Amino acid sequence: MSSDTAVRWLNGAADVGPELLSRVTGAYEELALREMPVNYHSWVEEEFGLDMSSVYGGYPIGNPWAKASGQLSMTPQQVAEDVEAGLGYVVLKTVIAESEDGGQSMSDWAIRESRMQVEPIRSRRGESGWTVSWKGRGWWGTLDEYLELLRSACGLAAGAATLVVPSVKYHLLQPGESEWLESEYRFTTRRLLEAWRDSGSKGPMPIEKDFSPTLAGSERSRVREKVVEWLRRVPCLVRAAAGDGEVAVGLKVFNALFDDSFQLEMLRVVQQAAGAESANWLVYGNRLFDPDREFDGQRGIAYGGGDLSDRNLRVLSEFHKEYGAAMRPLAGTGDICSGRMALEYALRGASSFQLHTFFQLPSGQYALRSGSRTQKALHELYLHPEEGLVVWMEHLSRRCGLPTGPLRFRDVVGHGRPG
Ligand SMILES: Cc1cc2nc3c(=O)[nH]c(=O)nc-3n(C[C@H](O)[C@H](O)[C@H](O)COP(=O)(O)O)c2cc1C
Repeated sequence: MSSDTAVRWLNGAADVGPELLSRVTGAYEELALREMPVNYHSWVEEEFGLDMSSVYGGYPIGNPWAKASGQLSMTPQQVAEDVEAGLGYVVLKTVIAESEDGGQSMSDWAIRESRMQVEPIRSRRGESGWTVSWKGRGWWGTLDEYLELLRSACGLAAGAATLVVPSVKYHLLQPGESEWLESEYRFTTRRLLEAWRDSGSKGPMPIEKDFSPTLAGSERSRVREKVVEWLRRVPCLVRAAAGDGEVAVGLKVFNALFDDSFQLEMLRVVQQAAGAESANWLVYGNRLFDPDREFDGQRGIAYGGGDLSDRNLRVLSEFHKEYGAAMRPLAGTGDICSGRMALEYALRGASSFQLHTFFQLPSGQYALRSGSRTQKALHELYLHPEEGLVVWMEHLSRRCGLPTGPLRFRDVVGHGRPG
């Protein structure tokens, strides 16, 4: 695969007229001072004619912005803020699957977070960004506590436009192992489904399978063939556990320690899977893992920032070149800290964006003074005069000849490199 470092397609300044730029700048400054933040999605629709509706897997969503699974989707309070801010969906923290007797083959991932630090990071290309350093991994509470979170989150989202999505880390075969622990898949999926139905949710339950970056550093992912087998078998196992039509499965693909061509191979495997083996959507791509990076006395941690987006965009460019409009539904994740970066992922096929780090920055990094972190982030993501989505959508409408009338986000998805 090309090691071209010119991985970005949206460089320099957005090509927009002075009138639009002045309206965006005015809105950015004026809304920042409001005591009650606006609903940003409907506000940009009214003021700038932007239709942000999109899809996540097969689910219609009002806008593509989502909370990625992690430390910011562990409590009902956090979910309530995201529902209030009108996010398209929220992926809850990853729970570690267990079987009926309480056994957890992936118990190494049920580690309590000790300290977490949001810090600046410079990419190999010299770009400044942010990363979150910590030693924790998955949900460390009980499964019952997680089910309680799922019920409350669905209750909070009922009647609102935000979709709630559980995330699970199930058993994965290790080198030398040949028996899948189907009991873990059965027990955990069914309990999640019960909680989902209890809360009045209808239709198939969306569920994400997390292949986390720390897997990259574990013995489990040492053998490429095993990893490929995981990607094929996991959707079947989750579906078989839930019953026909009861779940829709998204695979959150990790950044392995192998080269970019293996990343592409993983995406191809998911893309080409048929029947019960096929995932309903892909999430790409979880954070990088550095075996030598140290934090709090631990060697080997996950990280993000510009190296993560560079790698993801490089791989997704190739994937998009191969499959174009035939690509499976895709959600982008990784260093999405601006509207511009979100659109880089969208041009390569992502119809929604899962953010973690940008919802966690020190409050001085956001212009909006009131409201929740989620609202503060949306203010920047949409309206930043140089980096925001409004100016870059206008840029794309000029460069890509998008259909006239209201500018529709979905017309950008999978468009490919702008002319
Ligand atoms: C502190 C922290 C905890 C995370 N925990 C999870 C998790 O439990 N499950 C998961 O699928 N991803 C987890 N992630 C990955 C995020 O969901 C996200 O995909 C990744 O950080 C890339 O997005 P970002 O660059 O916006 O942070 C975590 C990330 C961070 C920073």
